[in-house]
Amino acid sequence: MTINISIDELLGDNLVGFALSDASVTSIPVSIFAGDPEISIREEELMLIYDEEHPGTPIILGVLRRISRLEPYLRKRVKVGIEEYPDAIDKIEKLVYTNVHIMPLAEILVEDNNVVGISRNVTYVPFPGSKVYRVKRGDIITRLLATTISNSQAPIVVGTHKYSVDVEIPLDPKYVQYHIGVFGATGMGKSRLVKVLIDEIVQKTEYAVIVFDHTGMDYTVFYPDTTICSLEIELGPLGIADFFMKKLRLSEYYTTYLEFFGAELKKSIPKYRKRLESTDSREEELKNVHREITTRLQTIAKTLGARDDTVRSLGMRMQYFVEPELIESMLLGRKYSVEDIIELARKAKDQGKPLVIDLSFEETLEMKRTIVGDIIECGWRWIFEKNFLGKERRYVPINLVVVIDEAQNYTWGSGYCKEQVERVAREGRKWKYGLILASQRLARSIDPDIRANINTVFFSKLSQTTDLREIQDFTDITGVDMSNLAQLVPREFYVAGLMNPLRKPIAIRVKEVKEVI
Ligand SMILES: Nc1ncnc2c1ncn2[C@@H]1O[C@H](COP(=O)(O)OP(=O)(O)OP(=O)(O)O)[C@@H](O)[C@H]1O
Ligand SMILES: [Mg+2]
Repeated sequence: MTINISIDELLGDNLVGFALSDASVTSIPVSIFAGDPEISIREEELMLIYDEEHPGTPIILGVLRRISRLEPYLRKRVKVGIEEYPDAIDKIEKLVYTNVHIMPLAEILVEDNNVVGISRNVTYVPFPGSKVYRVKRGDIITRLLATTISNSQAPIVVGTHKYSVDVEIPLDPKYVQYHIGVFGATGMGKSRLVKVLIDEIVQKTEYAVIVFDHTGMDYTVFYPDTTICSLEIELGPLGIADFFMKKLRLSEYYTTYLEFFGAELKKSIPKYRKRLESTDSREEELKNVHREITTRLQTIAKTLGARDDTVRSLGMRMQYFVEPELIESMLLGRKYSVEDIIELARKAKDQGKPLVIDLSFEETLEMKRTIVGDIIECGWRWIFEKNFLGKERRYVPINLVVVIDEAQNYTWGSGYCKEQVERVAREGRKWKYGLILASQRLARSIDPDIRANINTVFFSKLSQTTDLREIQDFTDITGVDMSNLAQLVPREFYVAGLMNPLRKPIAIRVKEVKEVI
């Protein structure tokens, strides 16, 4: 795409100040003209710096940070002599001025007075006296940013720049498979931002999307036609094993027994289901099924060499911790196989929508985790079957994004679900298997191994100040600290990481998501 625009057109007439001494590639000190420019400037505004006296040098696109108001005599930590004379404060002449820092984001390249492109590698440092303009033609900046997106794919747009509302920040869809994290205190608009991301991804890219709605309130309302209740989804063998591990309060030591048990139980589900459908006394039959399942577990444990007291304890645990009704809701009343779920997600995509799985009816968190783990695991099986089981070796990516809101429930500690999420985080990119995780917190919420693989981060005001440091450990957020975050209101986020064409954090305002009643 060629940009046919003159320098004058780009800069416009919004001259607000000039560069001072001591500029570097990371920070350019600037003095702001008195009057309206001085009063109206705000942190995070986008600015352009042009070194007119050196034609051919790039125009720096930067973001305004650290506004400081100054006066040569009213210095801090110095006695200025007015302290004893309150009336004098109105009488003295004040020589106020304003300095700011502009953090360079990109170089806008020029040739013969025309704008020809943009580069995020900033290497030119403007001389003192260079002119500073407030961005007026946001549309030109938007077009320039779009040229950085690879393969001329349609960019993902979740909102505009916080102040320059005509600057859309195009995000690079190529990096969806490198995973996305959304972090911020409650009410800052994480779930709404995720909704916008989902729509953009499902409509503009090759990915289908599966959303796990933890509360059943954040996504189901937006996509009623493509929502299914998790109670309709059958569990896989490992999911069954994990469920019983947790319910029976068993240690890792029992894993092998439970895995065999899960595999066997999975095979027998259709038979049990039929028996329950054809009986006159469902309650009685359910008790029989419960008894049979208990005996099976005990037999497997015995076959694998468990001691008699272990076998007895398994029987008692089944009796005390797993009611027959739970067996029914957990195993028998579910009509979709996890394989169906991937198909349903593709069908939903054909309508331009994600598949939402409403987890709110599951009684326990373990059950929710089991469902999430099972569906993610099924994605891996899909990849294996398509890529390794055929006669010839082919590369068939899954093109699937899994969205986990309230991620702290699924991405911390140990267990099947967390392992599944971690595997996607670590290896998903090869198969275009992406993750979007949203959470209020990072520490003790998102496992460090998962975090380390999240390459695009949206973050807002955080509930724990230490979490900013956690973000810093895996993303470059140079130039943003707690004071920047304190200035954000709901719907405003910084975006940092690979999808951001400038790679340095920029404040965005998320598109409006209208309530549905
Ligand atoms: N993009 C948006 N468009 C319109 N309203 C928004 C937007 N973002 C946030 N809001 C408003 O803020 C409220 C909270 O947003 P949201 O539920 O997304 O927050 P959250 O960060 O997910 O909070 P929690 O951590 O409690 O889940 C919404 O109910 C809505 O009123
Ligand atoms: Mg939310």
